[in-house]
Amino acid sequence: MSDRIDLAALPNDFLWGTATAAYQIEGAVAEDGRSPSIWDTFSHTAGKIDNDDNGDVACDHYHRWREDIGLMRRLGTNAYRLSVAWPRVVPGGDGPVNAKGLAFYDELVDGLLEVGIAPSVTLYHWDLPQALQDRGGWPERATAEHFAEYASVVAARLGDRVTQFATLNEPSCSAWIGHLEGKMAPGLTDLTAAVRASYHLLLGHGLATQAIRAAAPGAEVGIVNNLSTVYAAGDRPEDEAAARRQDGHVNRWWLDPVHGRGFPADMVETYGVELPERAGDLETIAAPLDWLGLNYYFPAYVVDDPEGPAPYARAVRRPDVPRTGMDWEIDASGIETLLLRLTEEYGPRKIYVTENGSAFPDVVRPDGTIDDPERQDYLVRHLAACASAARKGAPLAGYYAWSLLDNFEWAYGYAKRFGLVHVDYETQVRTIKGTGHRYADIVREHGAGA
Ligand code: NOJ
Repeated sequence: MSDRIDLAALPNDFLWGTATAAYQIEGAVAEDGRSPSIWDTFSHTAGKIDNDDNGDVACDHYHRWREDIGLMRRLGTNAYRLSVAWPRVVPGGDGPVNAKGLAFYDELVDGLLEVGIAPSVTLYHWDLPQALQDRGGWPERATAEHFAEYASVVAARLGDRVTQFATLNEPSCSAWIGHLEGKMAPGLTDLTAAVRASYHLLLGHGLATQAIRAAAPGAEVGIVNNLSTVYAAGDRPEDEAAARRQDGHVNRWWLDPVHGRGFPADMVETYGVELPERAGDLETIAAPLDWLGLNYYFPAYVVDDPEGPAPYARAVRRPDVPRTGMDWEIDASGIETLLLRLTEEYGPRKIYVTENGSAFPDVVRPDGTIDDPERQDYLVRHLAACASAARKGAPLAGYYAWSLLDNFEWAYGYAKRFGLVHVDYETQVRTIKGTGHRYADIVREHGAGA
């Protein structure tokens, strides 16, 4: 990979950011009135998380956020994507607001703005208050309504300073991995619950969009989806059909309704679950957006799998292709393909790459430094592909590297490290990795008109 990337196609006011999520970094799970979320419950259930790790302490960001803003400054970034923990702000899921919870984000936002870093606030990064799960969670319509109430509270408090809000992060993971595959909270394996959850997540997105606009008229609202390039792994017609279903499952199901096209009919048929639709819902879900967020990590190659769970497509592991430490195939062209697909098929005003990054096993050298050439290569290749998409017309307005810090990687616990900054979990010492330094160089060069 050549040393310089041609970033000329990226606008001058491009947002160069890093991203994190509340449960993955904050810790302090029982402090200042925070209630348990479904991830506290799930991570404290034996056998659900590698090494039985949990987010009780994580990166202790709740107490070390000032130091973490200092790291962002050292990286030279001008934007930061964070998520607000619903169980800190409305611990019961609905009802009373916890002033201390809200105050934490208020201070954090001020701290970012003071040093010229624009906060991008995601309202739901998977930490549903357990109290709402106890009342049925996302399969229940009331959860969508409570989400909008909570969104309104946050937007009213932060919306005078935060201009970028995302409703949901990767709702497909919440619905499919959380309710169908059972590998994320709340850990269900129930297709009906999963489809109902997917519906109410999108309804919650629409209701929250309205609520944010009412509470913070200057805010720009978007949704963050993890999309994948999907290919048939074989040339049998069944495999082509499986690829089409997989595309429906991970991509179209989350994009079409938001763009006024309703839920894809082929997928409604594949799932065979009646949608809990009421008059007016589809219009609510299709509330106009200011931007789309793309989280991109890897492509999918699938074959037909009639016995498997919906969508009856099984990912196959292709031999002899480069992979990250997550065992995810590396294909930088996928991010370009998806940016152009969003541009052509959905015509967004702006797109942000809200996450992109890689985990590799890091080695701390005797002098304390961390050289991570594979992560660096992943970053550079994907940035080059982003710039190429921008050259071809994608309205790309920013890139948030996942992640600022090594953190709690959900079911994989702390063993998988995505950070630009290494975290020693024993001491909470942070060390910028080679990739962090490289990112700082890239940001500086672009700022200097590269
Ligand atoms: C997407 C999720 O939003 C984030 O929480 C996670 O850590 C990364 N992907 C890496 O798996």
